[in-house]
Amino acid sequence: MVTESVSPVRVVLGVAGGIAAYKVCELLRGLTESGHDVRVVPTEAALHFVGAATWEALSGHPVSTQVWSGVADVPHVRLGQDADLVVVAPATADLLARAAHGLADDLLTNVLLTASCPVLMAPAMHTEMWEHPATCANVATLRARGVVVLEPAVGRLTGVDSGKGRLPEASELLAAATALLHRRRDLAGRRVLISAGGTREPLDPVRFLGNRSSGRQGVALAEAALARGAKVVLVAANLVVPAPSAATLVLVGTAAQLHDEMLEQAKHADAVVMAAAVADFRPRRVEATKIKKTGDAPTQVLLERTADVLVDLVARARESADGQLVVGFAAETGDAAGSVVEYGRAKLARKGVDLLVVNDVSGGQGFEVAHNAAVVLGSDGSEVAVPDASKREVADAIWDLVAPRLR
Ligand code: CTP
Repeated sequence: MVTESVSPVRVVLGVAGGIAAYKVCELLRGLTESGHDVRVVPTEAALHFVGAATWEALSGHPVSTQVWSGVADVPHVRLGQDADLVVVAPATADLLARAAHGLADDLLTNVLLTASCPVLMAPAMHTEMWEHPATCANVATLRARGVVVLEPAVGRLTGVDSGKGRLPEASELLAAATALLHRRRDLAGRRVLISAGGTREPLDPVRFLGNRSSGRQGVALAEAALARGAKVVLVAANLVVPAPSAATLVLVGTAAQLHDEMLEQAKHADAVVMAAAVADFRPRRVEATKIKKTGDAPTQVLLERTADVLVDLVARARESADGQLVVGFAAETGDAAGSVVEYGRAKLARKGVDLLVVNDVSGGQGFEVAHNAAVVLGSDGSEVAVPDASKREVADAIWDLVAPRLR
């Protein structure tokens, strides 16, 4: 196996009870040969397939399945807290279910609850189990939380049958683990500013003009940046999901408030991401009292333009020449005159941003849901497609592009 050397890190290798456990011995070898300190945490069932002696000999550390050994060292908390990466291979249907529901009934599930580092899971099971709605829901839950759950490979399964459900080869698992380790602290010491949610422009004390943005993508960006070591300021307009507690939260309501806060906070940021859906127009007149349907109720609402926050952020960044990276979003629909990407490319040039995340919103796709698909266009001509994935995965794909571009 080809191994790549990165700085020594602490890896917890969780092994659940599947026949593919034997292939994980080779992964363990690859991880240790890469210079990593690996602690193997098998489940009780995993030891039916590969015994403790094998894991101990290959890792150089004792193994335990339960929280009751070495209690004085509090291993059920320490192992997860100290880990730089947790890899679970094979992740069985049962392990995925226990992890998704936050159970803590053995050492491995305790590790998963205490680890704040990246977590990689490589499922392996029969096709029927992988495709069962319960497993699909558990995988979606884990992915939405930022766990990287690999797709199983297709091929020969335990018996004579074949299909989707094989554990990927050890070399592929090692490559995925190495990629996650590179991502781990790539925003350490960076200050990032993110806007999220949708602005509301009041008509009177009870009514407003708003939009369908939930703030999920912006919150996922904040969570991903925090996990990668960044200091995060989140300017939040009417979120319907909770903001991460580790972010500095600035609450706004209208486009004007969002504009002023973003321009102020941007002075201290290395990267700015405008994920909020900002109103382009607001009512010209805001009534001080509720508009009644009787009497001289207005039948038309006159609108005026709001400021373009992104354009002003780009102008600020270019003026200060502080190397700040500015990322915009674009919700686009294609038509006879142009494709979604063509419209995106034109918007990137118009707004002057470094990166533009283009969502195809034909048919309402992208709003009020937990997943998203995007194309990220760069001012350097780059174009990276992010296939339909959880908003957290889209967020990590965006930071993958931002991190190497930061000065
Ligand atoms: N944006 C902004 N201020 C506005 C409107 C939009 O900062 N008043 C930002 C959004 O946060 C997003 C980007 O501009 O990052 C593109 O938003 P979008 O609605 O797709 O584009 P618009 O500029 O509104 O252009 P149009 O509606 O004509 O496509």
